[in-house]
Amino acid sequence: MTTRAIATHRVVAHLDLDAFYCQVERRDLRAKTAAGRRDGRASAEDVPLVVVQYNPFERGGVRALAPDDDRELRDGFENHSLIAVSYEARARGVKRNMRGREARALAPACAVVQVPTRRSKADLTLYREAGREVAAVLARGGTIERASIDEAYLDLTESAKKVLEETAWATILEKARTSHAAGASAVSGKGYASVAWWNRDESEWREEEKLLAAGAYICFNLRKACVDELGYTLSAGIALNKMLAKLTSGMNKPASQTVLCPDHTSTLLDELPIDRIRGLGAKFGRELADGLNVKTIGELARTPLRKLEEVCGEEKAQWVRKVSLGLDDDPVKAREMPKSIGTGKTFRGALAIRSIASAKHWLAELTAELNDRCEADEEEWNRVPKLLTLGLSSPDERETSSGHCSRRCPLRPGADEMAQDALTLLSKWASGRERWSITGMSVSASNFVSLEKDSGDVVEMFKNATKAAKAPASVSATPAASPIKADQIDKNVLAELPEAIQREIRASMGLLDKSTGGGVKRKNEITNYFSKKR
Ligand code: CTP
Ligand code: CA
Ligand code: CA
Repeated sequence: MTTRAIATHRVVAHLDLDAFYCQVERRDLRAKTAAGRRDGRASAEDVPLVVVQYNPFERGGVRALAPDDDRELRDGFENHSLIAVSYEARARGVKRNMRGREARALAPACAVVQVPTRRSKADLTLYREAGREVAAVLARGGTIERASIDEAYLDLTESAKKVLEETAWATILEKARTSHAAGASAVSGKGYASVAWWNRDESEWREEEKLLAAGAYICFNLRKACVDELGYTLSAGIALNKMLAKLTSGMNKPASQTVLCPDHTSTLLDELPIDRIRGLGAKFGRELADGLNVKTIGELARTPLRKLEEVCGEEKAQWVRKVSLGLDDDPVKAREMPKSIGTGKTFRGALAIRSIASAKHWLAELTAELNDRCEADEEEWNRVPKLLTLGLSSPDERETSSGHCSRRCPLRPGADEMAQDALTLLSKWASGRERWSITGMSVSASNFVSLEKDSGDVVEMFKNATKAAKAPASVSATPAASPIKADQIDKNVLAELPEAIQREIRASMGLLDKSTGGGVKRKNEITNYFSKKR
């Protein structure tokens, strides 16, 4: 196999949790049952289960239920709309757009669980947390791009190459062949079914097909790890790019994965309605369909490029052409974590702030917003900030030529705490000045400490797969804080740290003369400094 041929191909998986909210609720019910807080009927796997949204128009308003309450409804759910339907309930004809009463009519044994609410709104924290736990497991396979609360793309190219190098073909195949092969019979020309496609002699496999098989092997292991470690099933699609992986992942739900046979791509796309492709769903897709009088991707593929250009311009036409042929070079992008989160406001001219009372008012506004954003950031990235920075712009500020200055202190979580601490910083700045005015104010949070567990190496993980499978399902391991990475530290922030730690960080960034010795010995200091629990 030549590296060259392989280098041009990618393997991308799209993974989506099955009846996601239902699985989370089922796990929650199991935990509550195990703790003796409720009867265990609805926690059994084979009982149909639906998750309902409260009905805001119901008499008496929204029933307030915290995640921890017993949220299985015994009555009063008739008008509630279903937002998630378990596969056991789907088998009885229950669908997402129905109401509670219809679910019970079709599946009398159906358990009905209400989403948690907070301040009269649905509170999705429980599901977000679960989605993040799953993403952390999946990230062992390669670069991950989360696409929604319950789905993600994974670039498995590098891991797949590694697996092909290090793992026997028979071993790869043993797990890979549990996947459906979409279009297998159509492409073989020999009436092959999916099973037979996997059964081909090794010499019949093209390079990209082998890469897909290795991707399927990895995906199988990752899905198994999610079941073993978290108790969640996912379905997955494995293909040569994101667009095709997404189209493939839903083909055999639940709890199974599908590999898209490369030769089947054009057949798959031929009859596909235009709006099934991301980017062609909304207004642009409609304009295209109407302008060209086409309904399917196949028709789009057969439209001359010149005609495409007339309708949507040269650049978009290129993209549409590629997509219609099943080509998509959109990379799987790990979302970048911001190094700091901040918010600010300017107070020009007559609006300048000249009193502590007025400063206090605006700081409360700014820190309330900062706190909201920190909470959202914690939910997304599972980390907390440790440093609060107050930025001021003032014509009276002589410290810097720009008229800006900043003051910092350890960050205490909570809007009120941040407001108080920011005000203390501001008061210190103002004290000793006879008159002052502030024309700009900002607050920001930085020095994030991860609450994430370390994720292991992909090959190591498979070696340990059997061990993990035997271990009891741990539901809520306390994540250890991991040391901050040197390149995540902002220069200004660095200056605030104790000298010894600054030296170590600089050394690890290669900013310190090697002869002064490194911080290797002091490694623990960094970890400890940033790991202090809030
Ligand atoms: N969801 C929602 N409202 C929608 C679509 C989705 O609240 N209009 C929620 C659902 O409750 C669901 C989750 O988002 O559990 C994920 O949605 P999706 O993947 O579309 O459906 P699942 O319920 O996970 O079912 P499937 O097995 O088909 O993926
Ligand atoms: Ca889903
Ligand atoms: Ca989804």
